[in-house]
Amino acid sequence: MNKQLRKAVIAGNWKMNKTPAEAKVLIEEIAPLVKDAACDVVVCVPYVDLCTALEATKGTNIGVGAENCHWEPSGAYTGEISAPMLKSMGVEYVIIGHSERRTYFGETDVTVNKRIRAALDNGLKVILCVGEYLEQREQGITAELVAMQVKIALGGVSAEELKNIIIAYEPVWAIGTGLTATADQAEEVCACIRATLASLYCQDCANAVTIQYGGSMNPKNAAELLSKENVDGGLIGGASLKAPDFAAIVEATKQ
Ligand code: 13P
Repeated sequence: MNKQLRKAVIAGNWKMNKTPAEAKVLIEEIAPLVKDAACDVVVCVPYVDLCTALEATKGTNIGVGAENCHWEPSGAYTGEISAPMLKSMGVEYVIIGHSERRTYFGETDVTVNKRIRAALDNGLKVILCVGEYLEQREQGITAELVAMQVKIALGGVSAEELKNIIIAYEPVWAIGTGLTATADQAEEVCACIRATLASLYCQDCANAVTIQYGGSMNPKNAAELLSKENVDGGLIGGASLKAPDFAAIVEATKQ
């Protein structure tokens, strides 16, 4: 089983939630519940919470991530944050290409690629998000679309650099809607993503990449989704804001 080759990663994406004070409370609630995790545990938090999160996770097994980064190291980009800024703080991970960034902030596969380049060049681990809209699923183009997103996002990324990439398959219709992809639907697309990686790099390279599912993942559906051969973890939105729910999803990787 190739699944044993990969480390499961459960990451919270807090989105635009939690003040620094609230972040401290939530991390202090999560830490004891996940201390014996069988997987890597990450919290991706708003920029203003990063300092607090880095402090609160010291001495724990929880990694800290940001939710985006710009492609330039510095300059006239009002409101943006660069990869060197994140790295200098001690941030380990960065989410890139989340569908909310693509939908509401005009990000494209090309800007996603540029942001990934900057993140890798600055020693950050990337959680690359891909996924289709409901309309695209109904048109039967999910596999091609997701393969295209992966190919463009990873343009110029070497096989060595691929070791610092996690891919999150997040069907847009399942995000924050309570609608979850079935375990079979998640497996089908995660397997397509792995096949795309094999075609771009090599089968062994593809087998080593952690591929997460994201979209209304919760304590009830996590075990079934995570039991699938190509689903190696989860990117958790809503349920990551409740310590017991997030911890239960982390626990589900032990099955
Ligand atoms: P929900 O778990 O709230 O559906 O969000 C998923 C997500 O977008 C994680 O990045």
